[in-house]
Amino acid sequence: TNKIKIGVAGLGTVGAGVLKIINAHGELLQARTGTRLEVTAVSGRDRNKDRGVPIEGLAWYDNAADMAKDPDVDVVLELIGGSDGVAKDLCVSALTLGKHVVTANKALLAIHGTELAELAEKHGVSLAYEAAVAGGIPIVKALREGLAGNAISRVYGILNGTCNYILTEMEETGGEFDNILQDAQKLGYAEADPSFDVDGVDTAHKLAILTSLAFGTPVDFNSVYIEGIRDVTAADIAAAQEFGYRIKLLGVSRRTDKGIEQRVHPCMVRTDTAIANVSGVFNAVVADGDFVDSTVYVGRGAGEGPTASAVVADIVDIAIGRHSATFGIPVEEMSPLPMAS
Ligand code: HSE
Repeated sequence: TNKIKIGVAGLGTVGAGVLKIINAHGELLQARTGTRLEVTAVSGRDRNKDRGVPIEGLAWYDNAADMAKDPDVDVVLELIGGSDGVAKDLCVSALTLGKHVVTANKALLAIHGTELAELAEKHGVSLAYEAAVAGGIPIVKALREGLAGNAISRVYGILNGTCNYILTEMEETGGEFDNILQDAQKLGYAEADPSFDVDGVDTAHKLAILTSLAFGTPVDFNSVYIEGIRDVTAADIAAAQEFGYRIKLLGVSRRTDKGIEQRVHPCMVRTDTAIANVSGVFNAVVADGDFVDSTVYVGRGAGEGPTASAVVADIVDIAIGRHSATFGIPVEEMSPLPMAS
C-alpha cells in the first residue's frame, strides 16, 4: 500500500487533535485515499507532557524547523503559530525542499501568504490551510472549489469564536466585557495573546485570507480596517436588542467601485438573520456569488476537534493528489486591485 509520511510540528491542542483523528480513523482514511497516513516525526515544547495520545517511537525534534529535512517526512504540518520565527522558517524550508505543507497559521498566511504561495508553486507542492480560517468550517474549499463558477461580490462573517462567545455571554447575562473575557480564557478559546482576539487582529488575519480566495488578489493584511470589541458595553448590547439587533464582530470584504474593501468592526445585525443566530464559539461565513446567490456556512471555529478536522481534510487532499493553487489562482494571475479601505 501507498504510504504518506507526516511530520507534526506543534503538539498543542490542534497537533494532539490531529494525532487523535489519525489514530481513530486510520482505516477510514486509508479507504478514502488509498494511502496509509503515517505520522513519523513530531515536535513540541515538552516531550514528556501527557497529551492523551502516544508519541513514543516517533522521531522527536527540539527545533521544529529541522523536521523539514527529515527524509522520513513527506508532508509537514505547521501547527506552531506566529507570523514569523520557527513557523515561517519551517514552512519555507519544507516548501523549498519540495514538501507539502499543511498549516493552521492564519497570522503567517495573512502576512506572508502570497510569498509562500509563490514558493509552493515554484516547487510544485501544496500549501494547504483549511484550518486557518473558521476552524472546522470548510470555507477555504467552499470558496476555492465550490464557488469556482462565480464572481464573488462579498464575503463576510463571524471569524473569531472568542469574540462571539464574549458578545453572546454579554447578551445573555448582561455582564461586562472584562469579566467575560476571563471566562473565555479559562475555557481555552482565546489566543495566547487575547488582544489578537478581542482587538480584531485574528479576525483580520482570517479576513485577509478570505479576500484573496474570493477576489483573486494578493493577500493584503495591511489594508484591513480593524476595530475590536473592547469598547462594546452591556448598554450597547441592550440598546441594540431593543431595536431588534444583535452586536457581532464581523470581518467584511466586498467589491466596491474603488476596489476591495476589507474591514473588521462590531456590527449591528438584525436578529432575524442567519448570522445573528450564530452564538457562542461558533463561526459563520456568508459568501455571495453572482450565480449561486448567497451561501451561509456555520460551524465551530476553534478547539481541538474542529480545527484538527480541517487539518486532516488537507492531508487527505494531498494523499489523493488533489491540488489547487494556494489561493485558487496562481500568484502571477492575481489582480492587484486597488484596495478601498
Ligand atoms: N482564538 C481563535 C478564536 C481560535 O477564538 O476563534 C481560532 O483561530
